[in-house]
Amino acid sequence: MTADDQKRAAGAAAAELVQAGMIVGLGTGSTAVRFVQALAARDVAIQGVATSEATAALARSLGIPLLELDEAGDIDLTVDGADEIGPGLALIKGGGAALLREKLVWEASARRVVIADAAKTPGRFGRFPLPIEVVAFGHASTAKRVDAALADLGFDARAILRRRDDGHPLKTDNGNVIYDAACGAIDDPTALAGALKALTGVVEHGLFLGLAERAILGTADGVITLLP
Ligand code: 5RP
Repeated sequence: MTADDQKRAAGAAAAELVQAGMIVGLGTGSTAVRFVQALAARDVAIQGVATSEATAALARSLGIPLLELDEAGDIDLTVDGADEIGPGLALIKGGGAALLREKLVWEASARRVVIADAAKTPGRFGRFPLPIEVVAFGHASTAKRVDAALADLGFDARAILRRRDDGHPLKTDNGNVIYDAACGAIDDPTALAGALKALTGVVEHGLFLGLAERAILGTADGVITLLP
């Protein structure tokens, strides 16, 4: 079973959680694509709230009606992928640069489900470089303070500006830039999350803590569910 088979199986299982009439948060990334495709194939009457322009375009192409977050108000269920799933379903997200809109949609949702292939649950939390969304104005200055905060917490890591293939800084859907910090093992994600949020210029980070109610994983042995 390939990783994509696992993503497809997880996405299809999550689509079964959706009932007619729901407002559904639609995640971003290759696993979320599988969910959105499975949801469209089920043909239940729902309205979606997209977590990125890419997902909005996909949903529209599949005939899923969309609401803006502020139109939707309370979202019934959000299903989204993750770059890493750790203890207690702590997540690292933002590999697709959509972490800010993703977190806004997750936090507006009554239920939040993460879907992934089996490789997203490594032994030690922190393998995936942590995405940090930073205001474009003065971003290198902000990055220095991110580095200092990481050092204060004992991490031997520097924030690296994410670039597009053409070398230009990648801009998010919100016009911000992304830094990635290869922290290594993150034993106290709450402390790291707090330190990053306290920095002027940091808009959001990719630590999603205490948000996922369950993880639906595609594995070589079939789909399994993890609870916090
Ligand atoms: C985007 C995300 C994605 O959910 C994360 O990058 C996982 O993507 P994929 O399903 O392609 O592995 O956080 O910002």
